[in-house]
Amino acid sequence: MAQANMEIDGQAPPARFDKGKSPTIAGGEFAKSAPWVEKYRPQSLADVAAHRDIVDTIDRLTNENKLPHLLLYGPPGTGKTSTILALARKLYGAQYHNMILELNASDDRGIEVVRQQIQDFAGARSLSFGAKSFVKLVLLDEADAMTKDAQFALRRVIEKHTKSTRFALICNHVNKIIPALQSRCTRFRFAPLDADHIRERLNYVIKTEGVDVDKGGLAALVRLSNGDMRKALNILQSTQMASHHVTEEAVYLCTGNPMPKDIEQITYWLLNEPFTASFRYISDIKTRKGLALVDIIREVTMFAFKICMPSDVRIKLVNDLADIEYRLSFGCNDKLQLGALISTFTSARLAIVAATK
Ligand SMILES: Nc1ncnc2c1ncn2[C@@H]1O[C@H](COP(=O)(O)OP(=O)(O)O)[C@@H](O)[C@H]1O
Ligand SMILES: [Mg+2]
Repeated sequence: MAQANMEIDGQAPPARFDKGKSPTIAGGEFAKSAPWVEKYRPQSLADVAAHRDIVDTIDRLTNENKLPHLLLYGPPGTGKTSTILALARKLYGAQYHNMILELNASDDRGIEVVRQQIQDFAGARSLSFGAKSFVKLVLLDEADAMTKDAQFALRRVIEKHTKSTRFALICNHVNKIIPALQSRCTRFRFAPLDADHIRERLNYVIKTEGVDVDKGGLAALVRLSNGDMRKALNILQSTQMASHHVTEEAVYLCTGNPMPKDIEQITYWLLNEPFTASFRYISDIKTRKGLALVDIIREVTMFAFKICMPSDVRIKLVNDLADIEYRLSFGCNDKLQLGALISTFTSARLAIVAATK
């Protein structure tokens, strides 16, 4: 036992476990076909980009054997699942899959699962085959999809098995978790990653994969990702597959997002051309470049912030644009909404002219 402990507590085993893992990832068929989001998933807590304070806190609590129940929340692609998996790897080594109970949105998670599967796992005696930790870990990914009944049942289970089991809940919307569960966990919010962290991580992947990316392409990737690292990597990989040279244009083309210069052009038409001509030009560019009206509205709104106009005109304009976007989300007719967009701008134009008189 003492010998086992010595080996367990030393620094060597994690490295050995990791070595066991890396060949499948770094080489072979998997490496070529794997989506980069999986291939470049942080393996250890130290690899997780950004959120240093949160990750360090979790790391320290683990080292001190004081790990609380965790509730990680925040938008997608910010490293929540990766952090917990890295924590599991730290606790149990590379064979962590056998040591944790992992349930995500694709598993049924009604009240029966809480009563049976989770209860059984938490209640079973832990046999840690040489793993560092003796507490078990239950990972409930996308916990906001759990029914209220299941969450109420879980409340009791958490309390009953606190001695032997830690629960890690992950969700996007923390308000969908009942307060009773929230208060039993230590909450950490994963904010969208800032541009520097996204750029740094992308640069690492670009260098490792040897992708040909120019400056504009990288800026476009960072801009379109909106703080979502998963999105950034997915766009990079699909653009690289579509066209070997990753430029700004290639990135926008691949995602179907309107190019900044197209938006500039559309805004110019909206502000200067008569109604029918605007309608014709915009319909034409939409079909030619396969743009969606929602994307155009979103970008044009951002552009409207930059145009100089009286604030009351701007307020009305932005409000009307938001209404159009709302209607589009209900599947209203694209042509009619395009008409509404042009009308909105026409009345804004009239108001601007009236204000200057
Ligand atoms: N903080 C981060 N540091 C490094 N990579 C990240 C980070 N966040 C997300 N990623 C990348 O995005 C992918 C998805 O991350 P994941 O942890 O599953 O996000 P979620 O917050 O949605 O659970 C990971 O495989 C990884 O490649
Ligand atoms: Mg996740």
